[in-house]
Amino acid sequence: MEKIKLAVVFGGKSSEYLISLHSAASIIKNIPNDKFDVTLVGITEEGKWLYFPGNVEEIDNNSWFENPNCCEMILSPNATLKGFVKLNKDNTFETLTIDCVFPVLHGKNGEDGTIQGLCEIAGIPFVGCDTLSSAVCMDKEFTHIVCESAGIKTAPFMSVINEKTLDIKALYEDAVNKLSLPIFIKPANAGSSHGISKIRSYEEFEAGLKLGFKHDKKVILEKTIEGFEIGCAVLGNDEIQVGEVDEIEMYHDFFDYEEKYHSTTSKIHCPARISDDLKKEAKVMAAHIYKALRCSGMTRVDMFLTPNNEIILNEVNTIPGLTSVSRYPSMVRVGLGMGYTELIEELVNLAINR
Ligand SMILES: Nc1ncnc2c1ncn2[C@@H]1O[C@H](COP(=O)(O)OP(=O)(O)O)[C@@H](O)[C@H]1O
Ligand SMILES: [Mg+2]
Repeated sequence: MEKIKLAVVFGGKSSEYLISLHSAASIIKNIPNDKFDVTLVGITEEGKWLYFPGNVEEIDNNSWFENPNCCEMILSPNATLKGFVKLNKDNTFETLTIDCVFPVLHGKNGEDGTIQGLCEIAGIPFVGCDTLSSAVCMDKEFTHIVCESAGIKTAPFMSVINEKTLDIKALYEDAVNKLSLPIFIKPANAGSSHGISKIRSYEEFEAGLKLGFKHDKKVILEKTIEGFEIGCAVLGNDEIQVGEVDEIEMYHDFFDYEEKYHSTTSKIHCPARISDDLKKEAKVMAAHIYKALRCSGMTRVDMFLTPNNEIILNEVNTIPGLTSVSRYPSMVRVGLGMGYTELIEELVNLAINR
């Protein structure tokens, strides 16, 4: 059998650049070399695309772009080429055809439909949701709107644009009336809890808005949902499979960047320590959300479980953390008995067969 030519794209012009490096390093270490012919393409934080011929350790420790054998790489939009143009150091160029792109990129320019659009124009299959679904899932306002219209419970919210002309005092009063304190302020398009604050006063509201607008031109205000967070891995195209439900045990105010990647006080439980009935309900809801947002490939659906046992959507992650110990692969392993290497193969299969 011929090997599948897979381009693993990592890094990215995104605040989640470093997270991507860890996800990618883990994937690269576990790709079965007898089935895949892997090309590594790194994107620097400035947005420069480079062919990377080095070792996985250089990706893990973020020195990969210093490798003297890196050279520029262009993903060609030419649908008759289906691949990359590699600009060699000696000013010659080569074309590399590719069967599938695996964008191991998180957040902006990776998970938001932009690179997906480029792959669609190029006619190259790619892992994960398509352009439209990626863009909608990345934008917390549109995720809310689409899911509400599908009858899925989400946190009451307001979206805010036009930072310069805002009457912040009036907005604060309106928000407190509609959402009551404390309020979550989030950039509409970001991830890893960047730019998020939980505010309890006007002063904090002002600071929270400012911080949110540093990350995006649109910010959303959300009612605080009591309870704790659960997640569910969903996998598939037309036919979908749902992994285990996990739970985030937390002692902090919210699951911030520090907690997500260093787990100082929080703990992930997979399976979640909830009743079988609630797990079943969460899985049904995750599948419903996946379909409503027209997801394909994979998505991690994050929800809240309230003290009244109500399940409410928080957000969806179309390219969730993908190291071998990340939540998504763990939920797939525990719930579907599918190991990490098998998951990588399945994701590529789903991309090629979409
Ligand atoms: N409406 C809310 N009520 C309670 N906690 C929230 C709410 N929104 C966000 N959080 C907390 O903030 C964290 C980050 O928010 P989230 O919307 O998941 O953004 P990100 O895309 O950065 O992960 C969540 O994991 C949760 O702990
Ligand atoms: Mg989140």
